[in-house]
Amino acid sequence: MSKNEIVVKSGPLKGEIHIPGDKSISHRALLLSALADGPVEINGFLKGADPLETMACLRALGVKIDALSGDKLIVHGISGKFTKPKKPLYVGNSGTTIRILSGILAAQDFECEIAGDASINQRPMKRIVEPLSQMGAQLSGKVEKGQVFPPLKIKGAKLKGIKYKLPIASAQVKSSILLAGLFANGVTEVVEPDQSRDHTERMLKHFGVKIEQTERQIKLAGGQKLKGKTDILVPGDISSAAYLIAAAILVPGSALILRNVGLNPTRIGILEVLRRMGGGVEVLDEELLSEEPRGTLKVTNRKLKGIEIQGSLIPRLIDEIPVIAVLATQAQGDTVIKDARELRVKESDRIATVSGELKKMGVNITPTEDGMIITGGTKLKGTKVKSHGDHRLAMSLSIAGLIAEGKTEIEDTACVETSFPGFFKVLNSVKS
Ligand code: S3P
Repeated sequence: MSKNEIVVKSGPLKGEIHIPGDKSISHRALLLSALADGPVEINGFLKGADPLETMACLRALGVKIDALSGDKLIVHGISGKFTKPKKPLYVGNSGTTIRILSGILAAQDFECEIAGDASINQRPMKRIVEPLSQMGAQLSGKVEKGQVFPPLKIKGAKLKGIKYKLPIASAQVKSSILLAGLFANGVTEVVEPDQSRDHTERMLKHFGVKIEQTERQIKLAGGQKLKGKTDILVPGDISSAAYLIAAAILVPGSALILRNVGLNPTRIGILEVLRRMGGGVEVLDEELLSEEPRGTLKVTNRKLKGIEIQGSLIPRLIDEIPVIAVLATQAQGDTVIKDARELRVKESDRIATVSGELKKMGVNITPTEDGMIITGGTKLKGTKVKSHGDHRLAMSLSIAGLIAEGKTEIEDTACVETSFPGFFKVLNSVKS
């Protein structure tokens, strides 16, 4: 289903927006609730395409889920004792679903297949195949050039705990191993090169699981129960808020209030970057609910300067790099992004697609092996650009369109449903 969207130059953006549920946390809320020993009520769930794929997979595995009105769900937890699905599980475009769910499937007493769309079939899975195989499961996929791609066949087994050093900082891989570890004999320990988002660890604690944790090291003992009769309140997604933050910073005269923004320290790299670029965002209030911090942000139009973004900051803003690239086009001086090779294996090769599409709008941007260099102070020109089926690219290009001369036509924008259903409606509601 391909749909085009036209964005024209905007006057000041004004108003208040309630940010919809966090995608990463919505996936985990479903998956961990299915592992709980009773019903769990989830509020603030993101009804985006990706979490809905997780929901469909869990239903196919015998988990009863009541989708109530609005963003409320009841998941009837069955302590992770799934039934063999009648046909291959389908995850659509969702890397989080395939990687994390595989950790649970690795411990089931049946064999099943898990598949996705054309983009998923190009995403590397060796990163989960290796550790889950070491734990005792049998996983196989399409092997090409030393990598493993979906569809995956997973034959569950009695697992044993391992100590695993992740070669890359990845919350999906970390979560896959930790959830497999819950079913394993003995202790499972994961060590990361840099800290990735820690939503799984926080939610496990919320369900009463004991974990030992330092910043880059997580340990848990197998056989622990997740307490049902728990409530989860999902905060809004800072990755979705990022587009509105960027819009308000870039469009002269703007002032937006963003409510319900998740402010988990492992996710707020973009706020740190904006502070360093001179475009600081005000945090008006903050509270901790269901182990996750959330708050209200006030964002106004600011002048930016180019900076270097690299190292341990990268996992804390990995999904925001496309929109950071758009912000950088308006900064004074160059912005250099390094250590972000992971961008090459996201929903699209974001180093290639972000550079290629922003170039069409007149930006001087150089893709590098592990990042990009963006020249600031560019007058953007509206033209026809492509999303490459990547939700984050579609939304980033729309923000560029707000400050471009003429009209920007973004091809294939249905993908925004992945993480931010109704994105264009929300944007139009604050535009003038
Ligand atoms: C996610 C982790 C990140 C992120 C993705 C969601 C998650 O991926 O880019 O959008 O929910 O765990 P990696 O684990 O591959 O770094």
